[in-house]
Amino acid sequence: MNLSVSSSILTPPCGDLIIPVFSSSDQQKKLPLKLSLILPTYNEGKNIQQIIVILTDLLNLIIPNNYELIVVDDDSPDRTWELASAMTPEYPQLKVIRRIEERGLSTAVIRGWQVAKGEVLAVIDADLQHPPEILVKLLGEIEKGADLAVASRHVEGGGVSDWSIVRRFLSRGAQTLGLILLPNVLGRLSDPMSGYFMVRREAIAGYTLAPIGYKILIEVVARGKIGWIGEVGYVFQERNAGESKVTWKQYVEYLQHLLKLRLSLLPIKQFLKFGLVGFSGVFVDMIILYLLSDPTTLSWGLTRSKIIAAEVAIFNNFFWNDAWTFAEISFAQKGWQKRFKRFMKFNLICLVGLILNVFLLNIQFNLLGFNQIPYGRYIANFIAIAMVTIWNFWLNFKLSWRVTDVNN
Ligand code: GDD
Ligand code: MN
Repeated sequence: MNLSVSSSILTPPCGDLIIPVFSSSDQQKKLPLKLSLILPTYNEGKNIQQIIVILTDLLNLIIPNNYELIVVDDDSPDRTWELASAMTPEYPQLKVIRRIEERGLSTAVIRGWQVAKGEVLAVIDADLQHPPEILVKLLGEIEKGADLAVASRHVEGGGVSDWSIVRRFLSRGAQTLGLILLPNVLGRLSDPMSGYFMVRREAIAGYTLAPIGYKILIEVVARGKIGWIGEVGYVFQERNAGESKVTWKQYVEYLQHLLKLRLSLLPIKQFLKFGLVGFSGVFVDMIILYLLSDPTTLSWGLTRSKIIAAEVAIFNNFFWNDAWTFAEISFAQKGWQKRFKRFMKFNLICLVGLILNVFLLNIQFNLLGFNQIPYGRYIANFIAIAMVTIWNFWLNFKLSWRVTDVNN
């Protein structure tokens, strides 16, 4: 008995959290299974066997021999892993992973998906708070073409059974905070806190995932290539047995996770390139100004020379930004007409930036007291330039080199 138990327990994969792409070389070759359902567990000894039975009965009806259940247990003191693996002889579609080194709900789910053989990757809580029959509807959404199908408490048919005002408030508060920090991610979901969902393997395979804490769904939407999202209402049940693992720590981790995602989704590389190009523009401006206005060269009027110098610098910057900083986007939007449009927008934004620059310099110098400190005007100018660079970058990023949504 003991021997069969220990040999049926799998060790988790290690290294980066990347889901392997299957059969990329051979499009015809189908994945061995339709669905891989992960059950993350920590001290679910009182629930695990019951939920395995319920899930098996249900899935045998709708996709017999075409699914697997993967329990990923974090070495629970109540030996959940052992209780689960005792069932493997009778339940051949069941796999059990016992993690010893790593901890945490989100990474447990990903480790499970890494060993999974399914075309569709899914997760469900093991404490029976997620009603199993919803799986049928979730699978239905995927069949209809969704890349991601989420069980939601906040759409028709959804809700919570018996939550205190405090817990409701905390849950909504966490959602609102996420909406502010990552509107393009959380804004796509009515229940971003859900831990009950299915995703097509191809939508997340190959991307490095790096979640912190509990909220794996946010990670999937932020880093995956998720087109259509289907939602299914469900009522979050009371716990069957055992207790929730949520403490204040999960809220801190949630915040860390949001900030980490926010940072890694910022276009930092492009911003650095943009700054470098801007720097090159300063030299272009200087050289042209010299060639046109210096008494030893053409000695044109200063204003006229400066306007030409600035425009040549803008042209220089546009050229490099289009060819280098935002190359990916320009490549997708070919043609002289489109390029000219980008150039005009770039010009306009830079012009407003210039006005902003003068305005910020003046405010700092005349109102904020920079005229009282040594080198005040240069420090103020430096700050103004930094702020305008961010302004120029962000507006150009959003307006000139905008990624127009394409359905693919
Ligand atoms: N492997 C592993 N490691 N599993 C864990 C860990 C861990 O560190 N922490 C929790 N789990 C497992 C639990 O055993 C359970 O099966 C599931 O993850 C959910 O944990 P609970 O502690 O029961 O969470 P909850 O019910 O309070 O919170 C749920 O909130 C959402 C709705 O707000 C989340 O689990 C979501 O899935 C759910 O939708
Ligand atoms: Mn729970």
